[in-house]
Amino acid sequence: MNVLIAFCHPEPHSFNGALKEVAVETLQRQGHGVEVSDLYAEGFDPVEGPAHYAGRVDPDTFLPLNEQRHAFDRQALPDDVQREIARLERADLIILQFPLWWHGLPAMLKGWFDRVMVYGGLYSGSMRYDRGHLAGKRAICSVTTGSPAAAFTRHGRGGDMATLMWPTHCSLYYLGLEVLAPQVVYGVQGGGLSYQAEGEFREHLESAKAGWAQRLPTLEDAPTIPFSGWQDWDEHGVLEAEHPLSWRP
Ligand SMILES: Cc1cc2nc3c(=O)[nH]c(=O)nc-3n(C[C@H](O)[C@H](O)[C@H](O)COP(=O)(O)O)c2cc1C
Repeated sequence: MNVLIAFCHPEPHSFNGALKEVAVETLQRQGHGVEVSDLYAEGFDPVEGPAHYAGRVDPDTFLPLNEQRHAFDRQALPDDVQREIARLERADLIILQFPLWWHGLPAMLKGWFDRVMVYGGLYSGSMRYDRGHLAGKRAICSVTTGSPAAAFTRHGRGGDMATLMWPTHCSLYYLGLEVLAPQVVYGVQGGGLSYQAEGEFREHLESAKAGWAQRLPTLEDAPTIPFSGWQDWDEHGVLEAEHPLSWRP
């Protein structure tokens, strides 16, 4: 299979960088094709705005969705967006490798969604969720956090991890992707902020790298997170009352 790793970290020697390398090496060793979108290294501009669009459909008022669709239809999308879309089209599996920043995606990766997932091209009103353009492909978030695992339990101080991941998982599913349970490495906080003694911390990172290397070969076939789809929703996009997931005690 072809794998795209969208790598979002400003420092190649970071732990995120190490996890990206583990993925490249492990997947290549298994015979998979691997491509990396190194967003910082490639200088990706994450800020959507009028400067990206020459020949606007409306030169007076910048409406991002209209301009995205217009540029897509005219094959006039910015070069970096076209490059990222081509990478997505080639991929069977997409790995998002990023640190949790402010309880969510780093702005660079959020902006990658804003600019690359083009309205009228990668999604539309009739082309989303289980009718999405990227249907048949898989995606997984490989995330690191500073706080330890307990902070992300249901009543933990960092917030429930499933809830924090929802905007990203929902966005991936919106595009039609099948979403795997995330790979989360907690407590990646070295230096003066560390929660552990140095030796123990190093061991924690090594075992996290080994765990990722072990899981990577399973991603092609592992079960994905079940989502409801068009056939489950009423005309407002809400689960039908008789749907089993609507059940309440
Ligand atoms: C801007 C910023 C925001 C952060 N926000 C969070 C956060 O909300 N929760 C958390 O657990 N860690 C947070 N951290 C810590 C990072 O998640 C942690 O440093 C990173 O996962 C470590 O991986 P790295 O060594 O590859 O950078 C934040 C760090 C930065 C720089």
